[in-house]
Amino acid sequence: MAGRIPDTFIDELLARVDIADIVGERVRLRRSGSNYLGLCPFHGEKTPSFTVSADKQFYHCFGCGAHGSAIRFLMEYDRLDFREAVAQLARTAGLEMPEQGRGEAQQPSQKPLHDLLAQAGRQYQQWLRQHPQRQRAIDYLQKRGLNGGIAQRFGIGFAPPGWDNLLRELGNPDHLKQAGLVVERDGGRVYDRFRDRIMFPIRDHRGRTIGFGGRVLDDGEPKYLNSPETPVFHKGEALYGLHEVLQADRHPTDIVVVEGYMDVVALAQHGLPRAVATLGTATSTRQVERLLKTTGDVIFCFDGDEAGARAAWRALENALPAMRQGRQIRFLFLPDGEDPDSLVRQSGSEAFESRLLQATSLSDYLIDRLQQQTDMQSMDGRARFVEKALPLLQRLPPDVYRHMLIERMAGLARLDTGYLEGVVDGRERIGRRQARSESRSSGLDTGSVRRTPVRLAIALLLQRPALAHQVEDIASLRGLDDLPGLPLLVQLLELSINEPQITPGAVLERFRDTEHEAALWKLATWDHLVPESGLEAEFADAMNRVRRLLSDRRLQHLNERLQAGELTAEEWTEWTRLKK
Ligand code: UTP
Ligand code: MN
Repeated sequence: MAGRIPDTFIDELLARVDIADIVGERVRLRRSGSNYLGLCPFHGEKTPSFTVSADKQFYHCFGCGAHGSAIRFLMEYDRLDFREAVAQLARTAGLEMPEQGRGEAQQPSQKPLHDLLAQAGRQYQQWLRQHPQRQRAIDYLQKRGLNGGIAQRFGIGFAPPGWDNLLRELGNPDHLKQAGLVVERDGGRVYDRFRDRIMFPIRDHRGRTIGFGGRVLDDGEPKYLNSPETPVFHKGEALYGLHEVLQADRHPTDIVVVEGYMDVVALAQHGLPRAVATLGTATSTRQVERLLKTTGDVIFCFDGDEAGARAAWRALENALPAMRQGRQIRFLFLPDGEDPDSLVRQSGSEAFESRLLQATSLSDYLIDRLQQQTDMQSMDGRARFVEKALPLLQRLPPDVYRHMLIERMAGLARLDTGYLEGVVDGRERIGRRQARSESRSSGLDTGSVRRTPVRLAIALLLQRPALAHQVEDIASLRGLDDLPGLPLLVQLLELSINEPQITPGAVLERFRDTEHEAALWKLATWDHLVPESGLEAEFADAMNRVRRLLSDRRLQHLNERLQAGELTAEEWTEWTRLKK
């Protein structure tokens, strides 16, 4: 959650700033009742579905699901980390950052590692400009059609032949080893990892160098050598070229995911500075999420061969958890034997752009591929189609997108949509398969929201935390977990009492990155149809119903003990009281 910055500071900060101002400085908003409405900055859209609530102090996009407090907004929009976003808001609010939260010094900071990697990057660039053996590297880059400007933009460099060029230049073998720049031999001696290679610095989205890819100048092996995993370099998260994409356009309408370093660089040189590459690994869900924070349209570009098809399918599987309405993921297959680098050099950027326009949507690709594997004319074939589709549909978050895809598949399988949805949710069975049971980490069903008293109480409390003051004897509810979500409700009540200033956005900020986050957001943005004027009465009613449910449970329990002849004297008194 808040790291070392005290929660109370965050609460106070969020009570002082107005999210409508923070967002309003960056996104054009118009008033709509007590809310503001605008075009969502986190996905491409033409009609506004991005709302900012001044009462609740949070934003929520009904299109892509983006949501959060003012802190979260700054993190996403200005691409800050938590501490930076808090510091920036604190400046706006004229609040002093708390002692232990100031600066980065006592955080387990990766700054020395980033600095060392940046220094190595500068050194490789330097060698490309003036090492005695640089000509071979220059010739190679020219042969590949790269010009100096683009090499500069991507920070491309040269690691000369030799075992200790970098070691001698930068010293400190221990730090170089931690950065993955040197390799340790059996005897404990270290030597440069990258030798006689063209060097591609890999940067994170904020532009910090986190690793390198090095290409051989001839046809040696391995063709590309990448940095090993280090505290700052994780292959499953890194996206080569994302920083450069963001430099060209902070909110690109689409981003193309290609397979290689050279593809990214070649596309940029030919006027398509919107490509990123994964580093020889399947695209992970985290990577897709990261891309979808930057753009509303991700286009995967694969070779037309069998390996490309396999890679595409894996990308599809990993992209599903990130799919929601308002987000677009597409697939483009290139002619066998070509890659984006070769194509854009041969036929230019316009031809490549028109290929991009023809990319297949994720749903079309998914359905086509499943249909190819089954005979949709026969009932058995359609059953197999459903069986293959199920695990894929179950990876999708509950959302309009999922519903629409289920509807479409139900049509193809000649099934009732509601039934297929039930199968996907595990409410209905098909054959031997018992579909995955729904996740209930909070004890709150986060799918379609049924109106239980506990849920309603939480939702109303999230809307107006001060309602907690109405509740007498919160302590009597503590420690009970007879009703799903009750412990969470108690936690919220106590928080609201202890922090009378707290805004709904700050409450939600407290639960960020916890198991309750998703369920709380669902309830915070739930249309429970209670008008502002009826909040108090409705909340009192919900709490009464919660208590009644609890006493029913208790009475049932005591009845059982009574029948078993186990009732103590105290329980007897309680039983007679509850019986009334
Ligand atoms: P490719 O073999 O398709 O190479 O690898 P490429 O990108 O077309 O390279 P050029 O055009 O010959 O220079 C695609 C990606 O797979 C990873 C790299 O990230 C590469 O860009 N790869 C490939 C490796 O990590 N190691 C290798 O030995 C080969
Ligand atoms: Mn290539």
